[in-house]
Amino acid sequence: MERKWWHDSVVYQIYPRSFKDSNGDGIGDLVGIIEKLDYLKELGIDVIWLSPVYDSPNDDNGYDIRDYEAIMAEFGTMADFDRLLDQAHERGIKIVMDLVVNHSSDEHAWFAESRKSKDNPYRDYYIWRSANEDGTLPNNWGSIFSGPAWELDETTNEYFLHLFSKKQPDLNWENEKLRQEVYQMITRWLDRGIDGFRMDVINLISKTPGLPDATVPSGALYGDGGQHYINGPRIHEFLKEMNDASFGQYDVLTVGEMPGATTEDAILYTDPERKEVNMVFTFEHMDLDSGPGGKWDVQPFNLQKLKENFTKWQVALHEKGWNSLYWNNHDQPRVVSRFGDDTTYRVESAKMLATLLHLLKGTPYIYQGEEIGMTNVAFESIEEYEDIEIRNMWKERTEQGASPAELLRAVHIKGRDNARTPIQWDATEHGGFTTGTPWLKVNPNYPSINVEQALADSDSIFYYYKQLIALRHQHDLIVYGEYALILEEETDVYAYTRTYENETWYVYCSFSKEKVTVPLSHDTSDSVIGNYNESPLVSKEELVLRPYEAIVYRIFR
Ligand code: NOJ
Repeated sequence: MERKWWHDSVVYQIYPRSFKDSNGDGIGDLVGIIEKLDYLKELGIDVIWLSPVYDSPNDDNGYDIRDYEAIMAEFGTMADFDRLLDQAHERGIKIVMDLVVNHSSDEHAWFAESRKSKDNPYRDYYIWRSANEDGTLPNNWGSIFSGPAWELDETTNEYFLHLFSKKQPDLNWENEKLRQEVYQMITRWLDRGIDGFRMDVINLISKTPGLPDATVPSGALYGDGGQHYINGPRIHEFLKEMNDASFGQYDVLTVGEMPGATTEDAILYTDPERKEVNMVFTFEHMDLDSGPGGKWDVQPFNLQKLKENFTKWQVALHEKGWNSLYWNNHDQPRVVSRFGDDTTYRVESAKMLATLLHLLKGTPYIYQGEEIGMTNVAFESIEEYEDIEIRNMWKERTEQGASPAELLRAVHIKGRDNARTPIQWDATEHGGFTTGTPWLKVNPNYPSINVEQALADSDSIFYYYKQLIALRHQHDLIVYGEYALILEEETDVYAYTRTYENETWYVYCSFSKEKVTVPLSHDTSDSVIGNYNESPLVSKEELVLRPYEAIVYRIFR
């Protein structure tokens, strides 16, 4: 496989609203990011993925874009953006923007036109339908943010499709003019000097013609429309066309956020010969703790399922495609709370999870705050949550008679605001995030978990991430080596090997709060990295792992 700069890069995701506020309005901003570039340089990352910074009414915190070519006033100006880009580039850090083109805001100029009349030139930029003859909605699809996927617009008495909130109408990708406008917008950003795009739910843009009804899962209120829009009929054609007309002409990183993509789909999306996107951002491992009722139907973590799933992806994409690696983003709960232990073994388990992920094949993504082991938050009242997904779900389910206590528990475990509480920079009020009132409360554990503390402790999670990032830059084995699962039957340990040329690394990761003994079949004199200061107890045949221990050995043949 031809080598690419993004193969050995590590990406750091910034959710600007929660990163650093420079002007005391309680909202993170671009100047705040500029102030912290040296911090990111110290960590050693190569690329920043900026969650949306475009002008937006913030129904979904910027994922509802009003103007693709203006900066959100709360975040600063275009001059601030250019300065951020320059200052990042000066430090050798690239910037990847979020591209949200499955939908726009209902306040976008295109939608303002589109809704005016049925014969408006922009009408067909969105997906409009009249009610069925019996007065029912155009189809039975549910919105991903609860409720139906259709909203009536009284001006023309027709419904528009919105897979997300009703302030996020879906763009009509069947319309050639719309597609060309999007490609031109992408090209203008690339010409401004940015280094690529993370493409929001990009495998949802092609819908089955006729928008047929979907089957309704048992116990659900609406049809599962995903059957008709996930990896839809024209998706590969659209991505090829987009590649050809825009980013394919530049040496940039493109990562498609692709819920519902299988390994077979991912190979099609990322096979370099096909010229669609560089890599996929997939979700199967994030769904392992969800039951048949979906995200809020919380199930206990099962390590065997995780092993099976990662192994399937590692093996299937080897030499055929490219995946991203992540535990966290702005839509997911904090991994140390989810798959680790956020109390007694917070530091050990955060480092263990980092080891497991960062030694796999793919491009790792670190989400802001992960590098200091930030945890989930448990606000006492639903009023303290800001996320539209949480709020809509709460309204719909309480109206259906669900128990508020159970819903709140699910929000504590799975809610997106777990990831969105502001970064804890130091132990001063609001964790040093703002001098004003933060838009979302800071996690009350900021006096003990914060960046200042992490930077002062040479044993911190931060410096461990720094080592892992540096290892990826130094070793082709991590970037290109072949993966194999070992100790498959061990229920508390995830162990695998990576092999490249004459070298093999053995990675052991314990998910247990107790000591675990596993069989050994190789020499242990050369250890690459581990999360305890003293070596573990080893004999010729056995290795005794301490709680949440991670240890990596290397052998040469
Ligand atoms: C995926 C984004 O990551 C999420 O935050 C957003 O709500 C939806 N797409 C809709 O844009």
